[in-house]
Amino acid sequence: MKTAVVTGAAGAIGSAICCRLVSRDYRVLAVDVDPEGLQRLPEQTVPVLADLTRPDFTDVVLAAVEAAGRHCDVLVNNAGMVVPGPLEDTDPEAIHREQLVNLYAPMVLTCRLP
Ligand SMILES: NC(=O)c1ccc[n+]([C@@H]2O[C@H](COP(=O)([O-])OP(=O)(O)OC[C@H]3O[C@@H](n4cnc5c(N)ncnc54)[C@H](O)[C@@H]3O)[C@@H](O)[C@H]2O)c1
Repeated sequence: MKTAVVTGAAGAIGSAICCRLVSRDYRVLAVDVDPEGLQRLPEQTVPVLADLTRPDFTDVVLAAVEAAGRHCDVLVNNAGMVVPGPLEDTDPEAIHREQLVNLYAPMVLTCRLP
């Protein structure tokens, strides 16, 4: 069985991607920061509760891949967030979190997942 990692798995598009991959017999590691959203996914998915803004997120995802057979066949960097409003009014911390989710996490997962 092939293994897929889907980030933002609990969201609108992520959950649809998870359902499609499950229907194609993938083992789906569903990564999200939203525990209730992960519970709503098909029971065949493996919930991986991780916050992509936290320094430990790669360890959490890597541990899940290790437990699932040590190899990721498909990575879907789907998680994303937008900080609404004019840039000049935006809290720099929020901009940083946005960049971590939208840019840093996809790059790190692409490089690190076996
Ligand atoms: N819906 C659209 O029309 C549209 C259009 C263009 C691009 N996109 C992009 O597609 C992707 C999915 O969109 P969507 O509409 O399903 O969004 P969504 O808001 O429904 O889902 C995003 C998911 O990412 C998760 N997430 C956010 N921050 C996280 C973090 N720090 N750690 C882990 N998970 C986190 C959320 O919990 C959520 O489940 C996003 O990257 C979005 O920017 C969406």
